[in-house]
Amino acid sequence: MQTLTSLTAPLILSNGVKIPGLGYGTYQTPAKETYTAVSQALKVGYRHIDTASLYGNEEGVGKAVRDSGLAREDIFITSKLWNTDRGYDATMAAFEKTMERLGTDYLDLYLIHWPANRKQYGDKARELNAETWRAFEDLYEEGKIKAIGVSNLTPNHLEELIADSKIKPMVNQIEVHPGWPQMETIQYCQAHDILVEAWAPLGEAASLNNEIIVQIAAKYGHTPAQVCLRWGIQQGILPLPKTVHQGRMEENTKIFDFELTDAEMAIIGSLRNLGGQCKVPDQVDF
Ligand SMILES: NC(=O)c1ccc[n+]([C@@H]2O[C@H](COP(=O)([O-])OP(=O)(O)OC[C@H]3O[C@@H](n4cnc5c(N)ncnc54)[C@H](OP(=O)(O)O)[C@@H]3O)[C@@H](O)[C@H]2O)c1
Repeated sequence: MQTLTSLTAPLILSNGVKIPGLGYGTYQTPAKETYTAVSQALKVGYRHIDTASLYGNEEGVGKAVRDSGLAREDIFITSKLWNTDRGYDATMAAFEKTMERLGTDYLDLYLIHWPANRKQYGDKARELNAETWRAFEDLYEEGKIKAIGVSNLTPNHLEELIADSKIKPMVNQIEVHPGWPQMETIQYCQAHDILVEAWAPLGEAASLNNEIIVQIAAKYGHTPAQVCLRWGIQQGILPLPKTVHQGRMEENTKIFDFELTDAEMAIIGSLRNLGGQCKVPDQVDF
């Protein structure tokens, strides 16, 4: 199992692409604040920015990257295809719009944001996911995207997608935090060489008041946020914490100077129902 060793040390995806450590999340960062927030994150040292067409802030991400003074190839940008753009042609069109908004001529990682599910699409869900993925494969083979992946897929969706495709997803970005450990999906992905990225790694801040996490943080002289992130990286997961505050951006990077014991990993992993969204992809209506 690969694990993160520093803010910028890379993990290696199944196609050999390097993905720099700890990502910086931008969900719910308002468009008008995104330029400043991402510019600060790049100054703090983040080199991996996670956005999505849904977030409405791709322009701010792209401008912050261009104005950073850093080489484009030194920054890893992820965006995601929203659910209303599924299918081959719609995916192609949505990708072009994302590229225009970001103002870049290639994307590092593009993800299917959520799988089409049977609740909404019945037997057509599998076909729709395969069609969307076929567009991803073509964009990848044309060199417009360095790596392709999915988000919010559970093993049942992954089994179908892998059976229906030429290229296996390189990443699955799922909600993982203390209280929502997603062990089954993590084990499946790691067995299939699919890197797991954790969204809401702090449980949208709701995991931070848990007494067990607070106690473990005090033992190491670290903060609850740092313990949540450390718990993720010790499982070989790449977390994507979001904050618009510079102090917290820095705090969230200081997770490489302590190590949780196996017992602490297990205790944190046994917590349930702490914060985040805890949505089951087969049950959502969007
Ligand atoms: N693929 C998907 O479906 C999906 C879904 C959701 C999110 N994501 C991605 O994952 C990223 C992270 O998820 P998230 O933003 O939902 O949740 P998160 O990172 O778990 O939590 C963000 C919240 O925690 C606060 N926070 C951050 N650092 C803190 C610290 N050190 N101490 C105290 N509070 C802190 C932030 O507040 P302030 O900003 O006010 O500091 C914000 O309210 C997103 O931004 C997005 O890029 C993906």
